[in-house]
Amino acid sequence: MARLKVGVPISGRGSNMTALAEACADPGFPAEIVLVLSNEPDAAGLGRAQAFGIPTAVVDHRGFPDRAAFDAAMTARLEAAGADFVCLAGFMRLLTAGFVERWRDRLLNVHPSLLPAFRGLDTHERALAAGVRLHGCTVHFVRPELDDGPIVMQAAVPVLPDDTAGSLAARVLAQEHRIYPAALRLVAEGAVRVEGERVVHRRGWSGGGALAAPPLP
Ligand code: GAR
Repeated sequence: MARLKVGVPISGRGSNMTALAEACADPGFPAEIVLVLSNEPDAAGLGRAQAFGIPTAVVDHRGFPDRAAFDAAMTARLEAAGADFVCLAGFMRLLTAGFVERWRDRLLNVHPSLLPAFRGLDTHERALAAGVRLHGCTVHFVRPELDDGPIVMQAAVPVLPDDTAGSLAARVLAQEHRIYPAALRLVAEGAVRVEGERVVHRRGWSGGGALAAPPLP
């Protein structure tokens, strides 16, 4: 079985990258990480990747005149590493339409909300302020608009009466770590594909419960 070769851009601690790396450590998993790429030289996730034996690179956005030049450098590093797919994992830079088009339908992101609610930053604070009863996370293919694109998988958590942004974030993050590897598996196996602006199952139906989070272990 040829495994999907995945590049993983990060900006920080890299816990989602670690969840993907743990999944990919199983030789039966249909994807492998060929490069972890950080725009932040001090990102803690770089060390975590190296502990898995994964090659790492830093492409510091501050060294480029504009977003297009930075994004082109990222693509060059990903291509040089042999990546044919990209999983953003806490990568906190806006991407140019050129980068998104280069990796169209080969670019996943994990976002800490039930999209299309709460795009952007501070999702947990905003969920608490809005008084929603359910919050969660989304794995989606990336489109040029911020936190937009065909949804592969979501997981919901209840918002509890005494939640703080921190406690809610921790509960959501645990779900991110479950659904990101599960979504990558579906995509890498070819079990799902993008059709228009939705993700559909190859075996005849689209959306719905079977693409919700997998059962709790
Ligand atoms: C995660 O919660 C991820 O969903 C979020 O940043 C955090 C990164 O944590 N990403 C975004 O907000 C992107 N829009 P990590 O570095 O430990 O994976």
